[in-house]
Formats: sequence, C-alpha cells, structure tokens
Amino acid sequence: MELMEAIRGRRSIRKYRKDMPSDEAISYVLEAAKLAPSWANTQCWEFILVKDESIRLKLSKTLPETNPARGAVEQAPIVIVGCAKKGTSGFFKGKPVTEKGDWMLFDIALALQNLTLAAYEKGMGSVHTGFFDSLKAGEILNVPSDVAVIELLPIGYPEKEARVTPRKKVEDFVFYDSYGIKKG
Ligand SMILES: Cc1cc2nc3c(=O)[nH]c(=O)nc-3n(C[C@H](O)[C@H](O)[C@H](O)COP(=O)(O)O)c2cc1C
Repeated sequence: MELMEAIRGRRSIRKYRKDMPSDEAISYVLEAAKLAPSWANTQCWEFILVKDESIRLKLSKTLPETNPARGAVEQAPIVIVGCAKKGTSGFFKGKPVTEKGDWMLFDIALALQNLTLAAYEKGMGSVHTGFFDSLKAGEILNVPSDVAVIELLPIGYPEKEARVTPRKKVEDFVFYDSYGIKKG
C-alpha cells in the first residue's frame, strides 16, 4: 500500500469485530511504532497490550460516559495503552532544555501514528483515545509513578466502514514568511 493511501484511508474506528488480530499483525504494528523518530532517540514510549476482557471493562470506565470511544475500549479485542517515561524526552542531565518541558506527548504521538497507519495497511482499525482518567488507568495497570499513561488505543478489525471526517483546506492553516501572511 502506498503511504498516502494509508494516510488518506485511516479513520477512527469505534466498533470492532470480535476476531483477534494475529501475533504477526500485532508485531508488525509494534515494529512500525518502534521505528518512529524521538527526541535524541530517547524512545520514551512503552506499551501495555490489554486483551483481558475484565481489564478492558475497567479501563472503559475511566472514560466519561459521553466519550464516543468508551464502547470501543470495552469491545475491541485489544487495547494498546500508550505510556511514556517522564522526564527523558526534551531533557538533558535531568533538566528540560526547552520552554515546552517534557516532549513525551510528541514522541508517543509519532510512534502511535506509525502504528495506526501500519494497522490500517493490515486491514485493522483503531482510535486514539485521550479523554479518560489516566491516573485511574495507571492504577488499574500497576503503572509506576515515573511513567505517564498517555492514551488508550483500541485496535482490531472494523465492523463497518468509517465515517469520513472533514478537514480544513491547506490554505487555511499555512502562512508564508510570517504568521498570518497568506499567499498573495
Ligand atoms: C490526541 C487524540 C485524542 C483523541 N481522543 C479521543 C477520545 O477520547 N475519544 C474519541 O472518540 N476520539 C478521540 N480521538 C479521535 C478524534 O476524534 C479523531 O481523530 C478526529 O475526529 C478525526 O477523525 P478521524 O480519526 O476519523 O480522521 C482523539 C484523537 C487524537 C489525535
């Protein structure tokens, strides 16, 4: 599959078939995550693969009832929990080197973007899920305090084709030479 086909075709999937992706398919997407760039190659990400139904149910309750991905966390055959070691990405000798502080969110997003595109290539769907109580999720999964739970990523085979979501036009978010300057 061409890269642009995967970029265009990937959509958030919130309803899954019951069949479990093979170990090979899961290894493939994790390999794609592994190859992502990161701050000074720190690779601060760690993933917990949750297949256990009772743990997925507990995790789903960390999402507000209004979150449309709540059912996906409960129902998908696997939830990949994206975690990151705090205080490494964007740090030198224990101190943040930019005013932005910890770059872990950026790095894990790159890894998870690779992962979701590779999943799409293999016929799988997923949905990034950020609106949940990450401290509660950390307790459920025994995550140590120096590691942040960043997102829940249900993954599996889509039950049906996804809704296409709108995007801004490129000219609406690109400026030239200075902020706010549009192409003349
Ligand atoms: C960082 C991040 C957090 C997200 N959190 C949620 C979430 O909590 N619940 C949900 O249903 N979708 C969540 N999404 C999915 C977005 O709603 C979705 O990507 C967006 O509407 C565009 O749709 P598409 O992924 O189908 O292209 C999240 C996406 C990102 C990138």
